[in-house]
Amino acid sequence: MLIKFKKASDALGSEITPKSVFDRRREFLKTAAVAGAGLALGGLPSFSARAAREKLSGVKKTKWTAESLGPTDQPNDFDTISSYNNFYEFGTGKKDPVANAKDFKPLPWTVEIGGLCGKPGKIGFEDLIKPHALEERVYRFRCVEAWSMVVPWVGIPLADALKRFEPAADAKYVAFETLFDPKRMPGQRGPVLDWPYKEGLRMDEAMHPLTILAVGLYGEMLPNQNGAPLRLIVPWKYGFKSIKSIVSIKFESRLPKTTWSGSAPSEYGFYSNVNPTVSHPRWSQSSERRIGEIFRRETKMFNGYEEEVASLYAGMDLKKLF
Ligand code: MTE
Repeated sequence: MLIKFKKASDALGSEITPKSVFDRRREFLKTAAVAGAGLALGGLPSFSARAAREKLSGVKKTKWTAESLGPTDQPNDFDTISSYNNFYEFGTGKKDPVANAKDFKPLPWTVEIGGLCGKPGKIGFEDLIKPHALEERVYRFRCVEAWSMVVPWVGIPLADALKRFEPAADAKYVAFETLFDPKRMPGQRGPVLDWPYKEGLRMDEAMHPLTILAVGLYGEMLPNQNGAPLRLIVPWKYGFKSIKSIVSIKFESRLPKTTWSGSAPSEYGFYSNVNPTVSHPRWSQSSERRIGEIFRRETKMFNGYEEEVASLYAGMDLKKLF
């Protein structure tokens, strides 16, 4: 975000992420997927350290995959997605998170639900995810730095999770926070950002069927550097809206504070819509480089999801509300 563009050659993911890091957590997804498919589940998944590499079964593939992606939107490979990251809690360089998050233990994990809702409280990761069917959503993902990827996320619709907490009628926004634990997240030992990382969505954005709580990619539990154990994915917005390693979800009546709009208000607004007609103050947003490609491609309004989401912003001046 504050970082300068890298050369194309820097962006090509050549680091191999150690697979052993993911093996233990892969087992959870497998069990959760079975639970989601409606089959009997005899208790919570065990997080035994299994070495065997197993692909997930029972992940429902959704229509979004087929309809929203064109023939030129091939998913980036696992190693690229998991070795070219923005996760300032583990360093500001693209290669820092894969190196610095390798010992992070995301489980057990608890999320605090609060604010204007009927059922506030603390909920464990498994209880949050288990009642829902896991879906694979292959989405375009665009960073405000003007690079993009295509990622096969695994997750649940955020709306399904939120509805369980019975949002009140005056809840107009949802605010999210990342874990703050400088012992486990070394990047938080310095004042690079105003920790913890914060994001927010308007309620209709949060409830939109495209918005997911992601828990995996490529049928495996999220790698630490991609925001384990759960993160937001809002595919029509700039990537920085997709907050990682979420520990707090609050329903609010007022516009929530967000990390990037607090840190550089003239550069990053609350709406963060992918909008090729509104330049970032320091660079154009009209094109992007798909990681792994040499030539730039045109950036599409709302990251190509215009048909699905434009109505959310009807009547708004997106040049002012950027
Ligand atoms: N969430 C937290 N907690 N900390 C971060 O630094 N970076 C954001 C977003 N979520 C970030 C975060 C930015 S700028 C981007 S582009 C995406 O995560 C990157 O997600 P990825 O590393 O999975 O590609």
